Amino acid sequence: MKEEFEKLIKEAEKARKRAYTPYSKFQVGAAVLSADGKIFTGCNIENASFGLAICAERVAIFKAISEGSIKFEAIAVIGDTDKPCSPCGACRQVISEFGEDILLIMANLKGDVKIKKIKELIPEAFGKNDLL
Ligand code: THU
Repeated sequence: MKEEFEKLIKEAEKARKRAYTPYSKFQVGAAVLSADGKIFTGCNIENASFGLAICAERVAIFKAISEGSIKFEAIAVIGDTDKPCSPCGACRQVISEFGEDILLIMANLKGDVKIKKIKELIPEAFGKNDLL
């Protein structure tokens, strides 16, 4: 695996430790690599009003965009899962908004890694062209 992807997984793992998950106790970390080489991290943040929880991936993406980065090469996601942690449907839709070739680096704490393009994970996604 590319060294920069290993670093991305490490950053996601660090961010995971900051997850706020008093309800599910399921911690997720994410790290997005922008086209200009910057890394933005995220963790899941829950709420007593359960439906307001936000996933780690969306926190990372939204942080990147609000800081001025909108082109992405890859996003790593990590959880304490049996298989590499797979992003939820809402996060797939949000990631696909910013490019169908973004690489999804799915990982778990045991060191398993699976890499796929976002377009493989959300085929025929709804997108900006559907609005025209
Ligand atoms: N979660 C994520 O952070 N990312 C995903 O892609 C799947 C789910 C979080 C949301 C919630 O805080 C917890 O995992 C359990 O669903």
